[in-house]
Amino acid sequence: MKPAVEPLRWCGDVLEVLDQRLLPDQLTYVRCVNAAEVATAIRDMIVRGAPAIGCAAAFGLALEAQRGGDLVAAEKILAASRPTAVNLFWALDRMRGVEHPRVEAEAIYNEDLAANRRMGALGAALIAQGARVMTHCNAGALATAGYGTALGVIRAAHAAGKNISVITNETRPYLQGARLSAWEMVQEDIPVTLVTDNMVGHLMHCREVDAVIVGADRIAANGDTANKIGTYTVAVLAQRHNIPFYVAAPVSTFDLNITDGSAIPIEERPAEEVLGYRELRWAPQGVMVRNPAFDVTPAELITAIVTERGVIHQPNKASIASLLS
Ligand code: MRU
Repeated sequence: MKPAVEPLRWCGDVLEVLDQRLLPDQLTYVRCVNAAEVATAIRDMIVRGAPAIGCAAAFGLALEAQRGGDLVAAEKILAASRPTAVNLFWALDRMRGVEHPRVEAEAIYNEDLAANRRMGALGAALIAQGARVMTHCNAGALATAGYGTALGVIRAAHAAGKNISVITNETRPYLQGARLSAWEMVQEDIPVTLVTDNMVGHLMHCREVDAVIVGADRIAANGDTANKIGTYTVAVLAQRHNIPFYVAAPVSTFDLNITDGSAIPIEERPAEEVLGYRELRWAPQGVMVRNPAFDVTPAELITAIVTERGVIHQPNKASIASLLS
């Protein structure tokens, strides 16, 4: 089934990429005709979200193969675009040496869509009737081939008539929660409330949150999970308030080569994103800035990880290895 929100449109000889930098104000697609243009789209956040980045990279190699380009060089350029989401490297590995790159890229895209639907069905079972579900960043249709991981679970729970509502955290500094998750939910008339990140503790303390569900960029062999900066804070607060904290991610987000979260590379992004937003600057010249784009939530804070193969409750090395084997 064609997804309602399409972050990527494969047109055979062109990849059209929805420019997520302009959302929610403008719906504009950027055309990419080779791997270098796709790498730029990933690096510049035109397309973002772990599974979407993986799909885009696969299509980038398919474009390059079609034009008879240098696939080794193309893979290098794509691999250098962003460091944290393992789906990018997973997709590049899977594309390496395949006989029909275009067919493989389309398979990666279609499998991601199917995985999201399956996670939606499995995850919806964890969400209670009438639950107020918090999410952080955007793990929605925009961040995947379509439908979404965490927002896929929310979509499925909503479609099942569970009468849920969503709290989306703004997600400073890049505002994926405010610009993208809120937009996706409003489009589909799923009740959604926007809060700033520093309101999370208060809302939990006031018993206004029943569950948290987020996506992931890379999950280590022991279940430690890298996701958008601020996720760790939300997980700590959820534990403090006895609120279940769920992660939804396809198996392509697991990195069994990494034993725990300390080895996950964390992208450091430009200072401008913290100093201001778009044309507006609010901090003084000369101030030092840190801008880590992701953090790691230890497995012990995660109630369950929802994958397309099943739900891993209280994830650890053994339960993850057994599900992925
Ligand atoms: O920097 P981004 O916007 O690419 O970060 C995205 C996230 O952290 C998402 O939560 C994650 O990729 C999961 S998307 C299904």
